[in-house]
Amino acid sequence: MHSDLDRILVSSWEIQARVIELGRAISEDYANTGQLLTVGILKGSTIFMADLVRAITVPVSFDFMAVASYGQSSSSSGVVRILKDLDQTIEGRDVLLIEDIVDTGLTLNYLLETLRTRNPASLRVCVLLDKPDRRKVEVSVDYLGFEIPDEFVVGYGLDYNELYRNLADVWVLKPGVYGKKRNSESRSQNSE
Ligand code: IMP
Repeated sequence: MHSDLDRILVSSWEIQARVIELGRAISEDYANTGQLLTVGILKGSTIFMADLVRAITVPVSFDFMAVASYGQSSSSSGVVRILKDLDQTIEGRDVLLIEDIVDTGLTLNYLLETLRTRNPASLRVCVLLDKPDRRKVEVSVDYLGFEIPDEFVVGYGLDYNELYRNLADVWVLKPGVYGKKRNSESRSQNSE
């Protein structure tokens, strides 16, 4: 099962410690607002979100979105397809978007632009991992777990071909394994 994996980049205990800190910071910032609506982006954010919401002490409700990038030709435009939209209106709500990783920033940028048009009271972003070297569009992240180098990582919700999401640590995929995938841009056609 682990033959595609190179090494652990962020260990489970580092993640758990950082999640506690993020939960504390979020709880302080939202101490005087109403109920916080956390919006997880499927599927990569699920494990992170499950841990994060349990580290948040203010009242929280959940919703989820699923998105997929359009194919190669339009991926540079950052237009993503919404596969599953929110179940509820976010007008007037305090919304915290929870994402697994920011790479080019195109997905997050699109999601933020889309959600802003729905007039939430506030809209912030919490991301577990950031790969700043790959950024194509600037996005502001309010709560960040870890900045990481430009390597393809799996585990703690992140996948390679839908595998490895269940690993407790964040691992680097062996370069040869991912190189083929990045060249073919097949990731851009998959759901997050
Ligand atoms: P972006 O639009 O380029 O920022 O891509 C964000 C999405 O690409 C994330 O939500 C992930 O689904 C996926 N992604 C980017 N980098 C990685 C990685 O290293 N491992 C797994 N998925 C990744």
